[in-house]
Amino acid sequence: MKDIVPAPPAIVRNDAVAIQDLYRQNVVPSYGRFELVLSHGSGSHLFDVAGKRYLDLGSGIAVCSLGHAHPAITEALTEQSRKLIHVSNLYFTEPQGRLAAEIVSRLGAGKVFFSNSGAEANEGLFKTARKFGHEEGRFEILTAINSFHGRTMAGIAATGQDKVKKGFEPIMPGFRHIPFNDLVAARAAISPATVAILIEGVQGEGGVTPATAEYLLGLRALCDEKKLLLFMDGVQCGYFRTGRFQSFQRILEGVPGGEKFLPDGISMAKSLGGGFPIGAFWLRAPYQDLLGPGTHASTFGGTPLACAVALKILEVVQREKLDENARQLGAWMQGELTRLAREYPQVITNVRGLGFILGFELAPNIAKLPGEPAKPQSIRFVNMLHAAGLLTVPAGLQVIRLLPALNLTQADAAEGIAIIESVVKQLA
Ligand SMILES: Cc1ncc(COP(=O)(O)O)c(C=O)c1O
Repeated sequence: MKDIVPAPPAIVRNDAVAIQDLYRQNVVPSYGRFELVLSHGSGSHLFDVAGKRYLDLGSGIAVCSLGHAHPAITEALTEQSRKLIHVSNLYFTEPQGRLAAEIVSRLGAGKVFFSNSGAEANEGLFKTARKFGHEEGRFEILTAINSFHGRTMAGIAATGQDKVKKGFEPIMPGFRHIPFNDLVAARAAISPATVAILIEGVQGEGGVTPATAEYLLGLRALCDEKKLLLFMDGVQCGYFRTGRFQSFQRILEGVPGGEKFLPDGISMAKSLGGGFPIGAFWLRAPYQDLLGPGTHASTFGGTPLACAVALKILEVVQREKLDENARQLGAWMQGELTRLAREYPQVITNVRGLGFILGFELAPNIAKLPGEPAKPQSIRFVNMLHAAGLLTVPAGLQVIRLLPALNLTQADAAEGIAIIESVVKQLA
């Protein structure tokens, strides 16, 4: 047997240490990675290379909208890859046109440009703003303190957190940051050079903070009054995560005047492709043609393969009413987390979010929290959850984020809450 079947190379043996060594020697160390080496998944569960099972309530940071190894995605990938993977944007293909129409139908009259990532989608919004204000010499975009808009040079300039800018100065000019959910500050910050305001409907990386309805409506009125474009970054909080296609639709439900609200542009990525890279931005009429032929492009933007996958995911979300699932199960989880905060105020001080974008804030200086005191509490808490078999995502120093797959089951949700409760109890 030994002679016939040679020993597989380390990577096939799924040796955790060998894989980590490959990274240490060959991969740029820009990420602070956890120790886990993952091998495969199914639904909302993942397995590491030693066979340990984890419930995944992070979904690759709000990406795996249908969980792992969903047969509909495999089918769309194989079917489309047999026909056409890529042709370039020199030509028309059906999946891109159909996906754009699906997005337009969920937002309003306008048009869509396809990119590969969230940062690239935001770049498109920035370029649209520059084009819009060019003749008047307006170029400045206001974004929120604690926002996150990506890691490109314009992305870090737009992001309202110093830690992403440090070491990359000079920062690209044309962005200023304003306090989130503060209309008075927004009005006061507008200068003759201001051309747009960009906000997240729910700040994700910044600690899971939803915009208020008054803020959204007030920003819309302010932008109309001052002839500014109002952009929303829906990369993390969009795509049905809040229970509606975009977070503003959920935040403004039942609010007088809310049904008429539309931003002028929205960026998307993450869940749109369920793990296959695709980003997009939608521009509302009459701004949808500002980027004319030759002004913007992306080689891989909107390939037939990416769009076929995204179309298939939309079909599943719609058929299985996964938006409702995110809304209802998210509310149940939020209720359970709120109960934990009530029962263990010495561990959890605050619970925030909407649907399947949830965050709970840890009490300062939890004495029993293991790990190096120099490391943020959020990282140390996530490490404890890993040991207990649960994946979540830290947000900043004190907040733990839950961003489950849209098809999470009630049993999975209950398992997640039970694991969180067991860890919280250890720390109380
Ligand atoms: C709100 C928001 N915008 C933009 C981005 C950047 O997206 P990407 O990493 O796909 O470039 C992220 C990523 O986490 C995000 O959360």
